[in-house]
Amino acid sequence: MTLGVGLIGVGGIASHHIRGYRQADARIVQVADANEDLARQRAEELACEWTSDYQELLRREDIQAVSICVPNWLHYQVARDAVEAGKAVLCEKPMTTRLEQAEELVRLVRERGVYFQVGYMKRYHLVAQKFREWISALEPVETGLLRCYQPFPEDLWAEPNFWFTKKELAGGGPLVHGGSHMFDLLHWCLGEVEAVDARVRMRPGTDVDWFVNGIIEMRSGATILLEVGWFEHTNWGRMADGWDEMFQLRSRRGVLTFYPTFWDRPMHLVPSTELYLQQEHMLQRFAVGPVDYFVEEIKDFVRRVSAGLPSPVTVEDGHFVDRLIDALYRSGEERARLLL
Ligand SMILES: NC(=O)c1ccc[n+]([C@@H]2O[C@H](COP(=O)([O-])OP(=O)(O)OC[C@H]3O[C@@H](n4cnc5c(N)ncnc54)[C@H](O)[C@@H]3O)[C@@H](O)[C@H]2O)c1
Repeated sequence: MTLGVGLIGVGGIASHHIRGYRQADARIVQVADANEDLARQRAEELACEWTSDYQELLRREDIQAVSICVPNWLHYQVARDAVEAGKAVLCEKPMTTRLEQAEELVRLVRERGVYFQVGYMKRYHLVAQKFREWISALEPVETGLLRCYQPFPEDLWAEPNFWFTKKELAGGGPLVHGGSHMFDLLHWCLGEVEAVDARVRMRPGTDVDWFVNGIIEMRSGATILLEVGWFEHTNWGRMADGWDEMFQLRSRRGVLTFYPTFWDRPMHLVPSTELYLQQEHMLQRFAVGPVDYFVEEIKDFVRRVSAGLPSPVTVEDGHFVDRLIDALYRSGEERARLLL
């Protein structure tokens, strides 16, 4: 049976979800957005119904699954309501903006036994999967670098209606926006974190971070250096597109590097991963694509919900990222190493 889907929030990221649903065995039944004009416009494009009240969408029996694409501060409430309504959920990242909300969602999802997936779509790129597979050639990983510098226009900081730069609305700055994806990759590849020690530089005149440096100690024994921030650089980075992200791991056996690319251009850009092995004197490079990880994510979400399969990016994974972000901020405030 074709899965009936509802979209909650149809702004920027929803376009990527829509592209996925168009290619999956699913039908978008209704969209909900507080902005009525936008909801109506999207509904016309999709030939579906619309509402400005997402509760109306959650009451429908012909909708079995929802994409939550509202701004960060609304994730918790909308996700709670969707779980309580028994819908399968694909919730955009970060899962919540406060640790206690993430804890409560874990409890609720376990209690209700519903399908819950967090939108960490970078895992769906074949290059990310190859990077993860190649880690076994290095083990045990000793050290690494998690870098996430993203181009950020200077004038956006002064934009009053831009929710990305407000702590209450976004949960934080670059640590939350780009950083959350990298922390999901870290967890997916290397497991649990033992302790963090961070230096957080706040953007003057705001209540969010601008640059964060830190040390993340993994339970496996690996030590990862962290660099996250927003610069205005637009023509810098491996693909000269302003994007400077890197996940690099090192051991006595070699060096493994993953270079992701600009998040909203998966249909045009090709990330790569490189494995250098000391004993073999060998450098292998893997680059494939473009791979539209949003389409892969949505197709997999629909397939798993329809077949009753478990979520690959669970509520516990969402909680891990939120807990790590919370610990990094607290470590920065206290200027101290914190155990997780
Ligand atoms: N996976 C990624 O790489 C990625 C990239 C960008 C954004 N995101 C995430 O997607 C989410 C949305 O970001 P965006 O850039 O699309 O934001 P946006 O502001 O463009 O869109 C959010 C939409 O939610 C609507 N909305 C607000 N309150 C609502 C309510 N109570 N009920 C229904 N609709 C409501 C707004 O009117 C708006 O249309 C955020 O959580 C963000 O972190 C993820």
